[in-house]
Amino acid sequence: MKIDLNIETNKALKVVVLTGAGISAESGLKTFRDNNGLWENHRVEEVATPEAFSADPDLVYRFYNTRRQQLLSGDVKPNAAHAALAQLEDMLGDNFLLVTQNVDNLHERAGNKNILHMHGELTSVKCVSSGVAFHTDSDIDMHSRCTCCTPANRLRPDIVWFGEIPYHMTEIENRLAEADVFVSIGTSGNVYPAAGFVQFAKRCGAYCVELNLEPSNGSHEFDAAFHGRATDIVTKFVSAISRSSS
Ligand code: APR
Repeated sequence: MKIDLNIETNKALKVVVLTGAGISAESGLKTFRDNNGLWENHRVEEVATPEAFSADPDLVYRFYNTRRQQLLSGDVKPNAAHAALAQLEDMLGDNFLLVTQNVDNLHERAGNKNILHMHGELTSVKCVSSGVAFHTDSDIDMHSRCTCCTPANRLRPDIVWFGEIPYHMTEIENRLAEADVFVSIGTSGNVYPAAGFVQFAKRCGAYCVELNLEPSNGSHEFDAAFHGRATDIVTKFVSAISRSSS
């Protein structure tokens, strides 16, 4: 597949990339909606809502502990698509922003630094009372306690569950408003607000590109769409954008 981008510019391009579960699929992490609507054999309502955490905290702790252990096991590594985005950040510096819906740390491990995790992170937990976040590589449970309160409070996974407000929305909107190019990678376009970024970026003047295995729900909103495996099309996209901006 050849990727031609209709972008000509003699100024430094400002690029915002949004990633979803599809970019990590070839690293061995399951996506959310490719498995009969089940995420690692669970319905999202069982593990990814505040109500689920109240009803069965042990199940929710176990679920995210298992995801964290899998991520840190050594079997899961960044793939060529993650590496290509690290290369793009090297090229564009602070004109590049990576917004991810993913809770894995594969972008960081590939070398990206300008990252906003809008749905939280597996390697972070937070105090249920103050919201203060703590890095962790270890399991947590009902007995784990914060160090920010006296008396210490319970900890929960630092994951934005359904019904909660995604992180960093003001900064994301500001950067989308200034972007020359918006790229959406490996996301089905089912979950808002991320699914609405394309309309917003387009209204603000960005050239919008979709890179996904198949057309997403909002595919028609993009100026260009390329479909295939992330390791293939993201690598080609980064080569194409390097040519356009050099
Ligand atoms: N390369 C590119 N795209 C792929 C690949 C691949 N190898 N494998 C799968 N995909 C695509 C699928 O075709 C699908 O469109 O990735 C997309 C993954 O979609 P979802 O599973 O819905 O994941 P995502 O869009 O990230 O979900 C958004 O939903 O459950 C919540 O909070 C959770 O962040 C998540 C949010």
